[in-house]
Amino acid sequence: MKDKPWSGRFKQETDSRVERFSESVSLDKRLYRQDIDGSIAHAQMLCKKRILSDEEAEAIITGLNGIRKDIDEGIFSFNPALEDVHMNIEAELSRRIGEAGKKLHTARSRNDQVATDFRMYVRGCLAEIQRALKEIMETLIEQADRHVDTIMPGMTHLQHAQPVSFAHHLLAYFEMFLRDYSRARDTAKRLNESPLGSAALAGTPHAIDREMTASALGFDRPCRNSMDAVSDRDFAIEAAFDASTIMMHLSRMAEEIIIWNSSQFSFVELEDAFCTGSSIMPQKKNPDVAELVRGKVGGVYGNLIALLTMMKSLPLAYNRDMQEDKLPVIASMDTVLSCLEVMNGLIGALKVNNDALGASLSKGFITATDVADYLAEKGLPFRDAHHITGEMVSLLIRQGRTLSDLSLDEFRSFSDMFDEDILSAISPLQSVDRRKSFGGTARENVRKALADARERLESLEKNC
Ligand code: ARG
Repeated sequence: MKDKPWSGRFKQETDSRVERFSESVSLDKRLYRQDIDGSIAHAQMLCKKRILSDEEAEAIITGLNGIRKDIDEGIFSFNPALEDVHMNIEAELSRRIGEAGKKLHTARSRNDQVATDFRMYVRGCLAEIQRALKEIMETLIEQADRHVDTIMPGMTHLQHAQPVSFAHHLLAYFEMFLRDYSRARDTAKRLNESPLGSAALAGTPHAIDREMTASALGFDRPCRNSMDAVSDRDFAIEAAFDASTIMMHLSRMAEEIIIWNSSQFSFVELEDAFCTGSSIMPQKKNPDVAELVRGKVGGVYGNLIALLTMMKSLPLAYNRDMQEDKLPVIASMDTVLSCLEVMNGLIGALKVNNDALGASLSKGFITATDVADYLAEKGLPFRDAHHITGEMVSLLIRQGRTLSDLSLDEFRSFSDMFDEDILSAISPLQSVDRRKSFGGTARENVRKALADARERLESLEKNC
């Protein structure tokens, strides 16, 4: 029983079922770097405030660095009876350096310790996510650069709507990931206050310097309220939300890739390296990567709901429920990072099938809006122009023909406002290039949007 730091009050050994049930070290050992950094900053501060002697602080720091090295090398053995990473490291420190190790916990509690470690952990993950988002945005720009002139059917309701530049379509995802980037940056900024020194919940009578530990650990300032500091997990929830939004965006992209890659569409081809085969059907080359990304979204959303529900109605300040924050956050961070990484590869390796795109553009009356716009430009109220075009489409469907099959005379039989130039106005390329309104798909716009996207990406590099 003596091996437990809190054993003084206890007369019985912990039931082995309780030990197994309540331990978190099997997962929170992933926070060991943050825990050791936090402890070193705390020891240095205690030393400066003369709460620890120079010798004690030095022994603690050397001891902690030794433990870090052993964990790095995989030769440290964590003991589940010591519950979590914090008590494992502290107990081992005291075992290695004796008395001084037992002073490290002066003016802190595991409650502020875990909140500090976890904020630093999430901060690190958010930085990784931002880096991965930048990479995928770069890839999108590179692909878009190759495909300004590639025209494809833009869809609504998954039906042919209007032609767009493939680059324009890709740059829509650039916008989503840029928003994701700024969301992650905001979360990281908001979480960047240090709980350390809030102790169990009420602060400490020791004359500590919370500014010092905050700045040593890269925080902007100490959290202002000790009770909030130890009981807040907003940062974890926000990070889980950020991950959910990224996954939602990735799943939309994954879904499009699956559709485009299907034999019915064949708009794109995926490289073999990013596909897998079937154990029975020899002809198969499946888009499993995109499907897995789509499939993983559920777990990431679930993690967000788990966190929100775990925190709901919790009285202040710390409650053990909060230990359940680790699994959902760590899982969401791991998942979103691996999905960003693999989707980056997949998008970079996407090959466009121009023949299939061209064939598809001739279907579905994709430039019908251009016919209506043509008449509206000539002064016909748009509603009337829409009606006339609708009648043309309806007739052509019955005849099994399409807009480009119509002669000028046939056009004029619907309205004498049609002139020779209607025949070119219905070409997909003209349709695209006429959409010069700000944010529209005209190739001239898309080229500017590309240059603009590059600049916006570069300015992120400078600002971070
Ligand atoms: N392992 C705990 C957690 O992750 C650390 C805090 C424990 N505090 C306590 N009063 N039992 O939340």
